[in-house]
Amino acid sequence: MKKLMLCLVGAAMSVAATSAIAADAAAGKAKAAVCAACHGANGISAIPMYPNLAGQKEQYLLKQMKDFKAGTRPDPVMKGQAAMLSDADMANLAAYYASLK
Ligand code: HEC
Repeated sequence: MKKLMLCLVGAAMSVAATSAIAADAAAGKAKAAVCAACHGANGISAIPMYPNLAGQKEQYLLKQMKDFKAGTRPDPVMKGQAAMLSDADMANLAAYYASLK
């Protein structure tokens, strides 16, 4: 019985730990409404100057957003967008766009 309890506690803790770090694509989708104006409703842009985000690599997307925010990838448009995003927002958005085809 004691063993079972330990197992359950261990399982609950690992679930909590993963949800704290794992990106949440559904939350990213909710945040993506503003991005859709330029990057398209499904991450496929209708404007030649604006890149598609759908299906792009998650880690790449996350890095680009962080670089825009930090200014290491200079872009006046995206700097303004990234400035409004927390690290968690960026991780969620990256997971969302990477999940699209
Ligand atoms: C006003 C238009 C506009 C909005 C709104 C916008 N973007 Fe962008 N985004 C751009 C442009 C333009 C670029 C290309 C920048 C460049 O040329 O370096 C870009 C580039 C990017 C890139 C890099 C893509 C690549 O292939 O390197 C990412 C990631 C990105 N945007 C994410 C987002 C997210 C997430 C949001 C919503 C929070 C968002 N953008 C909102 C215009 C916009």
